[in-house]
Amino acid sequence: MTEPRMLPLESYREYPVEEMRERVERFYADLARRRTVREFSDRPVPRDIIETALKAAGTAPSGANLQPWHFVVVSAADAKRKIRAAAEAEEREFYEHRASPEWLAALQPLGTDASKPFLETAPYLIAVFLQKYGRLEDGRKVKHYYPTESTGLATGILITALHRAGLATLTHTPSPMKFLNEILGRPASERPFLLLVVGYPAEAARVPDIGRKDLAEFTTFVEDPL
Ligand SMILES: Cc1cc2nc3c(=O)[nH]c(=O)nc-3n(C[C@H](O)[C@H](O)[C@H](O)COP(=O)(O)O)c2cc1C
Repeated sequence: MTEPRMLPLESYREYPVEEMRERVERFYADLARRRTVREFSDRPVPRDIIETALKAAGTAPSGANLQPWHFVVVSAADAKRKIRAAAEAEEREFYEHRASPEWLAALQPLGTDASKPFLETAPYLIAVFLQKYGRLEDGRKVKHYYPTESTGLATGILITALHRAGLATLTHTPSPMKFLNEILGRPASERPFLLLVVGYPAEAARVPDIGRKDLAEFTTFVEDPL
């Protein structure tokens, strides 16, 4: 084994504790305003903002640094129309046949149904693909480690970056999503992970009245006694 090339950690920054507190509190307060939006405006969004948010997503940690994700940014009307038609067909099947009563009950507070007009209204759809494996230039397969976790992390950063830029998103998962490979020309080595709808909210957009768990409900601290 050859020695890995190492560099000094020059990008790290430490802050005084009070500043740490302020920074994380400001970040939390900003993220706490994020809501999934299902009513979008058709107002255009500059492409460079989407590109920078994608660059942020590309900084995500990934298993063995293999960066097993691919993002397809769709603004073309024809592709959006095809995606909407295919997604609504799957969603009709889901709501009418495939969804269990428990699943439908869990979705009830959200007020969702098979109709997905936002897939055409919103200026951007970002189809996130997970690369099950990569390909070397000579065509040989490269195994990817933890592609699901890695792509989930990259997508979380993308949603956060778009929110911080002042855009609204909807995490959409029409199931199954195989149609995205066909419409967007992605290879069989890539599995559609989710479809992110991006834009400004419609004027007077409304969101479901749902809550978030408190810290104590989703966190356990294992600490030494004082
Ligand atoms: C993996 C995943 C899949 C989701 N799929 C859908 C979906 O297909 N349709 C939808 O309307 N919302 C979908 N959502 C959005 C959730 O319903 C939403 O995040 C949740 O209700 C909490 O609301 P909030 O994002 O406003 O806090 C999905 C969210 C996640 C993380």
